[in-house]
Amino acid sequence: MTRVRKAVIPAAGLGTRFLPATKAQAKEMIPVIDKPAVQYIVEEAVAAGLDDVLFITGRSKRAIEDHFDRSPELEASLAASGKTAQLAEVVAIAELAHVHSVRQPEARGLGHAISFAQHHVGDEAFVVMLGDDLMIDATVLMQMVAAHEAHGCSVVALTRIPGPAISTYGCVAIDGYTDDWFARITELVEKPPFDTAPSHLAIMGRDQFNPTKLENKAAQPPRRAH
Ligand code: UTP
Repeated sequence: MTRVRKAVIPAAGLGTRFLPATKAQAKEMIPVIDKPAVQYIVEEAVAAGLDDVLFITGRSKRAIEDHFDRSPELEASLAASGKTAQLAEVVAIAELAHVHSVRQPEARGLGHAISFAQHHVGDEAFVVMLGDDLMIDATVLMQMVAAHEAHGCSVVALTRIPGPAISTYGCVAIDGYTDDWFARITELVEKPPFDTAPSHLAIMGRDQFNPTKLENKAAQPPRRAH
């Protein structure tokens, strides 16, 4: 089995829940403490050993690509003013991973967005990482990759959501744990009513897929890389 090394980060959504903050800027670029949210996602991927990142972007998402690219004017200015720590930091962001992007021409949903990764992932296993879920470290992602390598299956990250809040998540049924943290999923239900939810286990924004055919009736747009 080949090593999982590709992360796909869909970032072409309209971000309506964050309006008006997201009217003209990407939700994924909203700062969390001192970094845009999406930088935590890429750092998590890299920490888990994934060195190839594909962003699914859309109009008004250029800032994401720019953030992970070199910035010659800024770097020259920082160098000239002796701000060596900041210079090293901005250069390091551009060197975190091999970053690519592809456009989803219109926001027609998450599945539609992921289908645009087909050309880039080819016949390799890959991980989809959603910018909405920030992890404190790469443990979950590393466990997912390890589970894939051990069992050869696709892997979905889950979290326990006690109480009625489960009805705001995708929820799964499982057929029992094979160890403390690994189980076979038998059913997926989107936002079930609390009283019929098959479990208290909710889907997080980390999915690892075996090589698969991602079907998309729209034509694939040209891929850009930097
Ligand atoms: P969300 O369901 O959070 O949608 O998408 P959204 O558009 O970002 O936000 P709301 O619901 O309008 O507030 C989950 C992830 O899928 C991406 C989003 O960018 C987000 O990272 N996505 C969603 C796409 O890439 N394309 C889409 O058409 C929809």
